[in-house]
Order: sequence, then structure tokens, then C-alpha cells
Amino acid sequence: MISAPVTIGSGETPRLAFTKDQTGREIYDLVRADLAKVEDEFCQQSVSSVRPITEIGQYLQVSGGKRLRPALLLLSAKMCGYEGHSAIRLGAVMELIHTATLIHDDVIDEAETRRGHPSTNSRWGNHTSVLAGDWLYMQAFNIALAERNFKILDILIGLTQVMVEGELLQLSQLKRMEIGEDDYLELVYRKTACLFSACLRLGALLGKVSEESELKLASYGTNLGLAFQVIDDLLDFTSSEETLGKPIGSDLREGKITLPLIYLLPKCRPEEAQKIARVLQEGGFHSIQFEEILELIERYDILQAARRKAQYFAELAGRSLDGIPESPYRDALRSLADFIVERQY
Ligand code: IPE
Ligand code: IPE
Ligand code: MG
Ligand code: MG
Repeated sequence: MISAPVTIGSGETPRLAFTKDQTGREIYDLVRADLAKVEDEFCQQSVSSVRPITEIGQYLQVSGGKRLRPALLLLSAKMCGYEGHSAIRLGAVMELIHTATLIHDDVIDEAETRRGHPSTNSRWGNHTSVLAGDWLYMQAFNIALAERNFKILDILIGLTQVMVEGELLQLSQLKRMEIGEDDYLELVYRKTACLFSACLRLGALLGKVSEESELKLASYGTNLGLAFQVIDDLLDFTSSEETLGKPIGSDLREGKITLPLIYLLPKCRPEEAQKIARVLQEGGFHSIQFEEILELIERYDILQAARRKAQYFAELAGRSLDGIPESPYRDALRSLADFIVERQY
């Protein structure tokens, strides 16, 4: 059974939309009314005559999520002087694409939990989930088509291909301890940062700003996305399932060598590196416990180094906005960059 739809703005807010933090709340307040409309659009647009699709779409909607991508698109559009329904529509498009990637990602990662609830694959199975993800992608394009704007379609199609390539690349890099920082960052660009960047660009397009400004905003989005995923990978070591709504230690369990481990491996002793190799070989924490890896990460001060990297990208994001006229939206995007690094979920 699906519970009643959750809305933003008219009372309740999805569980994870940064409502617990003052900075997060202040940033979202600038677009809260429009986010509520994005929510309605998402709800209307995830309805199909075939029941499991509607059920899955609504299941993910009511389970929460930070709605960061539509918030970015709305902030960008408003900063560029645009007000109107296209931003709402494209906000829903980006959340639909994000939702489709999460459904597919959880199938690939065999994840059991998402947003504090059973993942779609554990509830409906892989086959239904993959097809529902496909449908949501197509629905996103369908809605975007209503804009009758080839540049928008160009951005969305290019973006989706880069993301799918990213997931494929990630598969080919699973369980490989020799992955370097550059490989990692390319993957992060593909799986996360290019979607953020597209949200900013679409806002800029709606505002019909100069190409130079569009590029600045795209660069802001890319750097913000890089910072965001570095922190996601860090939280996978330091947070808790209760806070994140997904289990911690998942990346290594799934065979993913992320930035903390990329920094750890050259620093630690061979017998310590061997522990990581064992987890990869065994496909989980069997003879080696997650706490043993965490202890290594703490002993070698890895978290600080990874956090510094996220800070570096957040600073680049902030600087990308130099030359953009001052406005509450520009200030919100600047503080969002710092906030992303400090976020707890
Ligand atoms: C999850 O994104 C996937 C990553 C890029 C790490 P979010 O952390 O934005 O997920 P929701 O939408 O808030 O659940
Ligand atoms: C995040 O990948 C990017 C996408 C979902 C496309 P992850 O595998 O790190 O995301 P989580 O940690 O499952 O949310
Ligand atoms: Mg995953
Ligand atoms: Mg992750």
C-alpha cells in the first residue's frame, strides 16, 4: 500500500530535504513554493496505465529525497531572471531522471534500502524495476519535449548517455585496487556532476543569459556535483543508515574503491592493504569487519584529506559565480557549496 503523497510547501516536507539545518532551510526557502509545484508535476507525470510504474514512481516520491536537482534548477532559473512554468516542468524532468538513475543504480548495486525504505528492486524485483526506470526516463524526455527546444533535448540526451556510460565504466572498475584519483573523478563527473551541471544550464537557458554566464553556471554545477559525490563517498564510511537512509560501508561491499580508499592505499602497510583486497575478494565484510577498515581510515587521517578535496571543489564552484550579478539566488548557491561539504545526509 502507498501512503498519502507528501508535498513540499503546503505543510509537510520530504524527510530529507535539508529541513533540519538552518542554512539548508534558508536556501530552500527561496524556491519552496516552486518546489511544491515540481512535486505536483512529478506526481501527475509519474502516472501510467500500467500499475507498477505508477506505484514505483509514487513510492519513491513519498519516500523523500532532498530534491536537490530541482532546487538547483529553480535557483539557477530565478538567478537568471526567469519565472514561469518551464522551470517547474524541467525541475520535474530532472527529478524524474534522477529517480530513474537511482532505480537502475540500486538494481546494479543490489541495494536493499533507499531513503530509509526497501529499494524498488527488493520490493518489486529487478525486472519490474529496470522497466519502470526506463519508463521514467522516457517520461522525462516526453515532458521535456513540450518545451519544443532542441538545445534542452540536446543537453538531456547527452547527459543521459554520459551517465549510462559512467555506470558502465563503474562496472569495469569494480574490485580494482589500482584505480587512481583521476579515474575516480571521471566516474564522479559522469555519475553525479554532469546531472548537477545540466540543472544549472537549463536554468540559464530559460533565463536566456549569455553563453559566458551559462558556462559559469555549468562549471558551478559540475564542481558542486564533484563535491557532493566526494562527500557521499565519505559519508558511506562515517555516517549511519538511520541518517542516510541507505546502509553505510556499501561502496567497498559493492567493490567500489572511492576517494577515501584511494588516499588510504598508498599510505598504509601491505598487510593493511591486504584487508581491503580481502573484502573485495569475498564480496563483503566476512573475515574482515567494516570497523577494521574504518580504523585504518581514521589512523591515517584520510577523512580530512577527502574532505579537503570536497572543499576544493566547493570553492571552485563558488568562484565560478564570480561576475554573475549579485542576488539572493547567487548568494544561496554560494552558501549551498559550503553547506554541501558540511552536510550530514
Ligand atoms: C543519491 O543522490 C545519489 C548520489 C548522487 C550520491 P541524493 O543524495 O541527492 O539522493 P536523494 O534524492 O536525496 O535521495
Ligand atoms: C550515485 O552512485 C550516482 C547514481 C545513483 C547514478 P552511488 O551508487 O554512490 O549512489 P548511492 O550511494 O547508491 O546513493
Ligand atoms: Mg548505489
Ligand atoms: Mg554512494
